[in-house]
Amino acid sequence: MADEKIGVGVGYGKVILFGEHFVVHGYDAIVASLPSLKTVVEIKEGPWNMDEKVVEAFKRVLLALGVEGKSFSVVVKETVPIGQNLGSSAALNVAFARAVNELLELRKSDDEINKAAWEGEVIFHGTPSGIDNSAATYGKPLVFKRLGPGKFDIKPFNVGKPLHLLVVSTGQNLKSTKETVAYVREKKEQYPAMTNRVFETYGFLFKEAIKAIEEGELPYIGYLMDVDHGLLSCFNLSTDKTELARLLLQEARALGSKITGGGAGGNLVSLFDSEEKAKAAAELLKAHGFKSFYSVLG
Ligand code: MEV
Repeated sequence: MADEKIGVGVGYGKVILFGEHFVVHGYDAIVASLPSLKTVVEIKEGPWNMDEKVVEAFKRVLLALGVEGKSFSVVVKETVPIGQNLGSSAALNVAFARAVNELLELRKSDDEINKAAWEGEVIFHGTPSGIDNSAATYGKPLVFKRLGPGKFDIKPFNVGKPLHLLVVSTGQNLKSTKETVAYVREKKEQYPAMTNRVFETYGFLFKEAIKAIEEGELPYIGYLMDVDHGLLSCFNLSTDKTELARLLLQEARALGSKITGGGAGGNLVSLFDSEEKAKAAAELLKAHGFKSFYSVLG
């Protein structure tokens, strides 16, 4: 009964601490996968049972893994929240690639799984940098740089002092990541003199941010998050709910907060110097209708 064999795969969700959008254009970014956010799939050989777009993505994943002439039925056992800029499509592509790897005993390396998942991401996001699939694959904090289509440089980093993070959902999803990435590119091409300065400022900000994280300079990290948020806002990526959440987070003594992921809704990430403060902020936000979850890094 070879066809009844099951393959299981996991992919992780993520929060980008610094550098969404800038990363698409070759700048370094800082990302953390969140172990509490994961997608788990079980697959077996059989007719496709997912929607058309997902199957299209999975076919590209299979091609990259060197698998031909097979189809799979897929059961999603657990999922990263969808449409929230937390990397759900990347987590799904990685989970599928890992499940195929297990089922067909392909013995692919993490790098090969990552590259295959990126191929699937192209269907969802058009020109993905690869940051989401990399976080989904490796499941740890990374400095990520896009070197070219499907080519990445990935480095671990040290966290000097624990980063107490509250991830807040705006409850909005006004534009897809594909649309926000296209908008940033359009503005970059339309107004290069101005936007180049915004991008260069991010380049400087990244260097300050990685140093501050490694040295545990929490208040400065928070300030840099606020600045990064300002830079992202230059591309209309913030919304009324994002700004309301930021005001409440300030009231609750967050050190800083910013859009995380594509923006135009989705989630914010905010930094606190203790778990207690982060959890008190979660209560305040809840009283105003915002859902959030706490996670610690380092
Ligand atoms: C999406 O999680 C992050 C973006 O920078 C897009 C990408 O890197 O592919 C907005």
